[in-house]
Amino acid sequence: MQEKILILDFGSQFTQLIARRVRELNIYCEIHPFNKVPEVDESVKGIILSGSPYSVRQEDAPHFDFVKHHTTLPILGVCYGAQYIAHFHGGEVLASSTREYGRANLDYIKADNPLFKDVPKGSQVWMSHADTIARIADDFEIIASTDSVEVAAYQVTGTQTYAIQFHPEVTHSIDGKQLLQNFLVDICGCSQDWTPDSFIETTIAELKAKLGNDKVVLGLSGGVDSSVAAVLLHQAIGANLHCIFVDNGLLRKDEYQSVLDSYQHMGLNIKGIDAKQRFYDALAGLTDPEKKRKAIGRVFIEVFDDAAHEVQGVSWLGQGTIYPDVIESISVKGPSATIKSHHNVGGLPDFMKLKVVEPLNTLFKDEVRRVGKALGIDPNILGRHPFPGPGLAIRILGDITPEKVDILQQADAIYINNLRSAGVYDSVWQAGAIYLPVQSVGVMGDERTYENVICLRAVESLDGMTADWCHLPYNLLAKISNEIINNVKGINRVVYDISSKPPATIEWE
Ligand code: XMP
Repeated sequence: MQEKILILDFGSQFTQLIARRVRELNIYCEIHPFNKVPEVDESVKGIILSGSPYSVRQEDAPHFDFVKHHTTLPILGVCYGAQYIAHFHGGEVLASSTREYGRANLDYIKADNPLFKDVPKGSQVWMSHADTIARIADDFEIIASTDSVEVAAYQVTGTQTYAIQFHPEVTHSIDGKQLLQNFLVDICGCSQDWTPDSFIETTIAELKAKLGNDKVVLGLSGGVDSSVAAVLLHQAIGANLHCIFVDNGLLRKDEYQSVLDSYQHMGLNIKGIDAKQRFYDALAGLTDPEKKRKAIGRVFIEVFDDAAHEVQGVSWLGQGTIYPDVIESISVKGPSATIKSHHNVGGLPDFMKLKVVEPLNTLFKDEVRRVGKALGIDPNILGRHPFPGPGLAIRILGDITPEKVDILQQADAIYINNLRSAGVYDSVWQAGAIYLPVQSVGVMGDERTYENVICLRAVESLDGMTADWCHLPYNLLAKISNEIINNVKGINRVVYDISSKPPATIEWE
């Protein structure tokens, strides 16, 4: 049985980061909303309570049944979690009169406390709270303090309940990882055996048991997630996995063929479908970004559905859903408002009547990459920048024509190839060229031109939720601009996007 840590989410922006840190220690963990705690069986080795934007003093403060768990399992309360236990169990939390935000040092650490093993006195931690624990119950013991926060950490005496008001998961807490390791390994007894290899082994066994001789159909996009999902499924059920790769006419230059070739090379049972014209027909004359997305989504479903029905007796739909999508849909705050109707293979309609299998739905993106590496997948596929489902359609502002797609593909290929040859591709989160519906005057030789503008976008990001523009070297930008203007007919001007997200977005539509 896969041992695990439960992280109860009270809505903190850092909850996912706690999960990342736990997993970096090769320990499997799951995030659950505080009000939907799953049944605790013997696979659960401990519980971490996250921080929260709420104050325990608020009437609608989130509650958790602490008493039920605290005698049976090790618990670590972080920030709100620490204040919650203190406040509702004989102590008191008040609004803080001093600043408790930013770096602080643990001037006092109780000798020999297991939570602080190998954490030196003076260790820097990161505080981020408006409330503070003013008093703890008599059977609680302070185990660390800073000069302004006396109850920086406490233990419920004689139990395995610990709590800290600082954030061990952020890198500014220098010994945060050590502290988490102390809790997880020494106190909870986790065995640190959750690695890409063990994930692959367990997942393949589970897929075999779940799918037996059934057939699965999976849409590949050329991206990391669907590729890794495909290889895992392939290793579990071999030829019973039927992959479909649709050319929607909105992919990057030569991408359809090269991706198809590499999948075939990997031994996948894959069918490529050239549906370019169907997409162009559906997009003709559409200028509104949402209408374009919807049209692409609709045609994709039609094309995919036709292809899936050609597979006799298929009963499962494979998907490359990853953990952030799952967390998002069960989040404390509820699924966040859809700003754009993102078209992913995920949105296939009920009429397909297929059961869904999602082998990656417990992994973060970087974990998917590590699993992909352990599976021997081509680094070129694993390192690819994210690319939106509607592809170049949302990078051509306004209506789509095959001619514009061709121009953008040429410019984008020059851009991406230059990023690769300059050795910066891997340090950029996502890059792409955008075709602007703007014409400007230029001069070429003796002639005046009146042609379109290409915008280059390159961003740094961790997860696509926020992003900053990359400070690409001027000489690289100059080279790319020259090459595009000299080689791509119809373009006489190149600009570089220097907006961050928020308030801008990564894509232009
Ligand atoms: P934005 O533009 O919202 O993009 O900052 C964030 C990330 O999402 C990708 N993106 C999409 N992906 N379908 C997708 O599958 C879409 O409609 C879509 N729109 C944006 C975008 O490329 C970036 O990685």
